Amino acid sequence: MKVLLIGSGGREHAMAWKLAQSSKITELLIAPGNAGTAEVGTNVNICVDDHADIVKFAKNENVDLVVVAPDQPIVDGLCDQLRSAGITTFGPSAAAARIEGSKIWSDELMTKYGIPTAESVAFNNSGAAMEYCRSKSAGSLVVKADGLAAGKGVILPETDDDLASAIVGMLDNGAFGKSSSSILLAERMTGPEASIFAFVDGEHVSAEIAICDYKRVGEGDVGLNTGGMGAYGPPEFWNAELAARVRSEILEPIAKALVAENSSFSGVIYAGLMITESGPKVVEFNCRFGDPETQILMPMLDSDFLEICLAVAENRLAEEEVIWSSEPHTFVVAVSGGYPGSYPTGFEILGIDEATEHGVVFHAGTSVDDNGALLTSGGRVLGVSSSGTTIKDARTSAYFGIEQISFEGMQYRRDIAERAVQD
Ligand code: AMP
Ligand code: GLY
Repeated sequence: MKVLLIGSGGREHAMAWKLAQSSKITELLIAPGNAGTAEVGTNVNICVDDHADIVKFAKNENVDLVVVAPDQPIVDGLCDQLRSAGITTFGPSAAAARIEGSKIWSDELMTKYGIPTAESVAFNNSGAAMEYCRSKSAGSLVVKADGLAAGKGVILPETDDDLASAIVGMLDNGAFGKSSSSILLAERMTGPEASIFAFVDGEHVSAEIAICDYKRVGEGDVGLNTGGMGAYGPPEFWNAELAARVRSEILEPIAKALVAENSSFSGVIYAGLMITESGPKVVEFNCRFGDPETQILMPMLDSDFLEICLAVAENRLAEEEVIWSSEPHTFVVAVSGGYPGSYPTGFEILGIDEATEHGVVFHAGTSVDDNGALLTSGGRVLGVSSSGTTIKDARTSAYFGIEQISFEGMQYRRDIAERAVQD
């Protein structure tokens, strides 16, 4: 089969790496891809925003399956456009993608169908939002932009001033443009967090897998939010009882709710959860794979990824068995100096072959120059994904791997998966 994968990050390198291992693959194209995807397939220079061009290319090339990875093109309807053109596509419709594209819509859906989540109220007027906050302490609330905001649309204020500036910034000063013309004020939950993934086709939900990611730039979870500094799985607090509860209280109900709302889901659902004292609750739903979770999720998938994507795209997921490994995995990301603020790029990356002896190197912001040198070209540059018989072994290997790599200004967190290691 000839497959076209849309996207260019570390997540997409991991997906391309796994697709390339399928017994069914004959040709893998990635648009636009990165230096890592070029090693397992052929990069095609098309921008992910150019939907018409993607549809035209897929048709001209007689692609058998398109897999759409990033949130923005999914929310903007690329999967609908591809399907309208008769192209077999893995990824949800824009209607189903509202579970990620509108936090207000998603919250209303969860409330209507009794799916546990934070108590939340929607506002599009800062005066009314500030009035609502009067009887609350800043630390008990979370301010969320309604729409996509590149992972930056959630503010956890510590003081009344932080709370007021988050509300005014979003509603009056357009902090995230149209995405913050409406906001949610949500109750702040506490507890360990996990990202849960399951393939979904209508009401059918595959076996799920749980991963923990690290969003903050600094060790000990301090500093600014990033696209993700590392991940590990399975979480130390995850067990069969919790998994069964998450399936019956969250995953199966959301799939059924979307069918009932005429927005049947086809793709992968990513539930960001908080395990609170009163049980698992949804922080947010996403309509796609997570980054960096996918960089350990793909190595943990024991089934043929292409067969699963095809089964989902053809509405026959129930026939496929999705098997996840329970072997511990750790993924550590190396970023450019200065990230997530501004950072220079164009530095040569050394040590990839040596790192590969300790795990799989997944590229994100990398490119190759005219002389064949591998250069940094983004904030999150690459990462090493390793397995082990214990999480301690997996962690040790991932760090051995990352220590082989060097480029000017390289930084990484040294505490990924540390909390999961029991001595
Ligand atoms: P989101 O983009 O919705 O995943 O939010 C980003 C991060 O903000 C989450 O991973 C949580 O750590 C935090 N967060 C979001 N909503 C809540 C909430 N209601 N209570 C506590 N933390 C939250
Ligand atoms: N891991 C966070 C995200 O993909 O949104």
